[in-house]
Amino acid sequence: MERLALLSLRLEEDVERANSILEQANQIVVLTGAGVSAESGIPTFRGRGGLWRSRRPEELATPEAFEESPELVWEWYQWRRRLIAECSPNAGHQALARLALKKDGVTLITQNVDGLHSRAAQTEAKALNILDAQAAFPLEVHGAINRDRCSLCDRLTDAVSHFQLGPPQCNDCGGPLRPDVVWFGESLDPIIIGAAQEAALRADVCLVVGTSALVHPAAGLPSMTLRAGGLLIEVNLEATTLTNQAAVSLQGRSASLLPRVIKA
Ligand code: OAD
Repeated sequence: MERLALLSLRLEEDVERANSILEQANQIVVLTGAGVSAESGIPTFRGRGGLWRSRRPEELATPEAFEESPELVWEWYQWRRRLIAECSPNAGHQALARLALKKDGVTLITQNVDGLHSRAAQTEAKALNILDAQAAFPLEVHGAINRDRCSLCDRLTDAVSHFQLGPPQCNDCGGPLRPDVVWFGESLDPIIIGAAQEAALRADVCLVVGTSALVHPAAGLPSMTLRAGGLLIEVNLEATTLTNQAAVSLQGRSASLLPRVIKA
């Protein structure tokens, strides 16, 4: 009992410390991963029940897989789209959106393709009577699942919600459409990752939420802030390779911790 009380006191102190570091910072970069959407009901990749625990990425998330069996790849992405459509942003997304809308110098970066940060940005901006939600839209370094891209001409379109006659085709050139996400072996959009790296370099603080920090180059962003003299705050259910380098490491669920770390 005494140990539990001590632990919760320590967590409370760490939350306060993280809060005061964020309040004093002029430039903040936030990097999120699948864990931030876990409490919205979207499975992570590597944790318990994670997508890569039961499926092989090479069979579903590579250009080679798409070339070999576009039907199978599309089936998986349509399943994920349906799952995501049924989920809503949680209190963690909302707290981050409020931070970005109310404080100058905040850049949100996400590895997630689920669009939940943008949905939270819109609802929070409305609640705060802010006309432009732009400041809380994240740099989506791994793309967006609700967008299609032609694999021949690169034309972007809103996602085709259902199709029965096989994989969809581009209306312009007839090329095979694919989800506009980054697959293993592919490069990230240089403009988006470039903007993320610039933000990481100029940040006083990097807040890293719900990522195993294993997939590069996104996983290298916190180290860029550290090397440039900034601080790291981590929110995660468990320890990661970043934990030892963090000024504050908060172990727990992001939907309950973030609203406490980011007070009004
Ligand atoms: P992972 O599945 O690798 O890691 C999720 C992290 O979230 C783990 O460290 C968990 O401990 C943590 N976590 C789980 N639930 C949490 C919660 N409720 N609150 C806080 N933390 C929680 O996901 P990512 O690091 O995002 O890439 O994976 C990175 C990339 O690998 C993804 O963007 C995807 C994947 O393959 C592409 O699709 C290109």
